[in-house]
Amino acid sequence: MKKLALLTSGGDAPGMNAAIRAVARTALYNGLEIFGIRRGYQGMIDGDIFKMETTSVSNIIQRGGTILKTARSKEFLTLEGREKAYRQLKQHDIDGLVLIGGDGTFKGANVFFKEYSLPAVGIPGTIDNDIAGTDYTLGFDTAVNTAVEAIDKIRDTAEAHDRIFIVEVMGRDAGYIALNSGIACGAEDILVPEQASDINVILERIGNDKRRKKLVNIIVVAEGDDFGGADALRIKIMEHLPELDVRSTILGHIQRGGSPSYFDRVQASRMGYAAVNALVSGQTQVMVGLENQEIIYTSFDHAIKQHAPLDMKMLEMAKILAS
Ligand code: F6P
Repeated sequence: MKKLALLTSGGDAPGMNAAIRAVARTALYNGLEIFGIRRGYQGMIDGDIFKMETTSVSNIIQRGGTILKTARSKEFLTLEGREKAYRQLKQHDIDGLVLIGGDGTFKGANVFFKEYSLPAVGIPGTIDNDIAGTDYTLGFDTAVNTAVEAIDKIRDTAEAHDRIFIVEVMGRDAGYIALNSGIACGAEDILVPEQASDINVILERIGNDKRRKKLVNIIVVAEGDDFGGADALRIKIMEHLPELDVRSTILGHIQRGGSPSYFDRVQASRMGYAAVNALVSGQTQVMVGLENQEIIYTSFDHAIKQHAPLDMKMLEMAKILAS
């Protein structure tokens, strides 16, 4: 293996730049040439490929977003698109890939490998933390910290007005951000896509809280919850309890941006380093992951399976602690 290419794909996540830095520097240390591909698989199809030097990744470890830019490519889902992508890689004599992204990224890599047998190693990068085969994905820690900071601020104003606040956090299919930010902020309720939500249970709890003069309620809801997010839930609550002062806030994409936490930077560095070492030692179609703080490798086939279930005992605990 002489020439590696690197891309970021899917939703960006804080820590991706730290991983790019680690991949580029480890590749160069091993005497390999390293190429950056801009805008994920779409850039591969379009031939947006450039040679990276050690200075290409200077001063990026602390930056959010991704210097390689990212995209969700519809064209790569087609046979023709993947064929174009392969031709572009061959023109540059690329003989190995490092892919940073979520399960969509690894699904794409898996199909591509079956068609063209190009060695590839993945690094899990998504704020959702919803990939099987790793306890943790890059960006999750920073995103939860961003959500926690915002929810703490919301609690200040909620206290001042005795209000109920519903805060929507990201997570289309996964409740990890909601669960962890909710626990960290002492949320009175946490609603996640992994569990059906019952409006009667929510109303009963709010009613009980009101009777014992607990007037402030913070409800953290993941965007993929079956209520359809914070606004839908606010309307439902106000229909039943019109006398209450209820507000909703959608945190949105601020959770994706910002300087990565120390934890994201360190894990990104470890994963980037491990990804190149894996390719150099002949591993392919594996994703680097973290299990009990140790680096592990798991096949793409496993990584793209349903993510590990949320720990429902933690939801139970959160309710008891906030009661
Ligand atoms: O996958 C990360 C994520 O931020 C999800 O939490 C969210 O549902 C989705 O991406 C939003 O995607 P987009 O930026 O394309 O709207």
